[in-house]
Amino acid sequence: MAGFRLAPLVEGLPRAIPFVGPETLERRRGRPFRCRLGANENAFGPSPAALHAMTHAAFDVWKYGDPENHALRERLAAQLGCRRGNVVVGEGIDGLLGLLVRMTIGPGDAVVTSAGAYPTFNYHVTGFGGVIHTVPYRDDHEDLDALVEKAHEVGARLVYLANPDNPMGTVQKPGAVEAALERLPDGALLVLDEAYVEFADPAVVPDTDIEDPRIIRLRTFSKAHAMAGARIGYAFGAESLIGSFDRVRNHFGVNRIAQEGALAALDDADWLAETLAKVAEARKALTAIAADNGLTAVPSSTNFVAIDCGGDGRLARAMVAALADRDVFVRMPAVAPLDRCIRVSAGRHADLAYLAEVFPKALGAARTAVAAHG
Ligand SMILES: Cc1ncc(COP(=O)(O)O)c(C=O)c1O
Repeated sequence: MAGFRLAPLVEGLPRAIPFVGPETLERRRGRPFRCRLGANENAFGPSPAALHAMTHAAFDVWKYGDPENHALRERLAAQLGCRRGNVVVGEGIDGLLGLLVRMTIGPGDAVVTSAGAYPTFNYHVTGFGGVIHTVPYRDDHEDLDALVEKAHEVGARLVYLANPDNPMGTVQKPGAVEAALERLPDGALLVLDEAYVEFADPAVVPDTDIEDPRIIRLRTFSKAHAMAGARIGYAFGAESLIGSFDRVRNHFGVNRIAQEGALAALDDADWLAETLAKVAEARKALTAIAADNGLTAVPSSTNFVAIDCGGDGRLARAMVAALADRDVFVRMPAVAPLDRCIRVSAGRHADLAYLAEVFPKALGAARTAVAAHG
């Protein structure tokens, strides 16, 4: 019987997926985590106004959402000081990255990113046959000079930068992104992933021209607005580039509950300010937990903190396992030298209190495990 045939490109793809979700880990473990601090989610929750809007929208869920995301794009454009045509809404940054790669990358095309940077971008590039070139981080920051240099060397079509960055939580100096743009090779597009931008000092947020064809910026409702499960984010840039998303996007891909929630979230500035204050407090608490255990935390401009475990990848890996044994879910960077750290989300007070309690024992267990097994 003739079966299905995968396209040759897909046939050649690795089976690996970019993330193993906490639910998968819980099924493997056979028990839930007590503290969910590994996915950079925002446990302080969405604005009550957004929750109300989403609850209300649920009654209308028999209708498709507006395929043009008209009201939300209008609202975002007003906030960004641009036109609706400069903004596209999609299924989170992850979904928009996939569309962007599909729009710009064919088999063999070069892209540049940092070794150990956000893996979903790489996943999409590989999925469309692109070739990934990496440069190392420098001093726990993505190295803009090296990214630009590599882009020239390989003739990159896309250069990916998360700012603030995941997994280290660091941010570029004011003016650095704008300066890098000027040095990009012709035909390269800077993909500026700003998933965490609301948590950063506004003074460091780059100032770029909306119609500059060399940059696209991506933001999300998953982090500061605490709507990760709703899957909604947006990108903004030159109208000609943004308009091209219409050629490839899933026009009904954004659900109407998320659309309504996002609109209400944008209108609740007080809630956002409160959230940012709570996250800043939680970062301080995480830094203190690190210090109390003789470790250092990398200064963070995000809703997570990378804690340097003071060893190499083996110790951090053992620490992730030792915390999981105590029902705390955290993750760690994949690549040296970043993998000397564990990455812990800025959680609620009770979660961090529990983390503080189990951290010394987990660290002791991790050190013992490394000494015993290497
Ligand atoms: C750098 C970065 N970009 C994008 C995302 C995902 O964003 P979204 O939920 O909008 O797909 C994350 C989530 O952890 C992230 O760390």
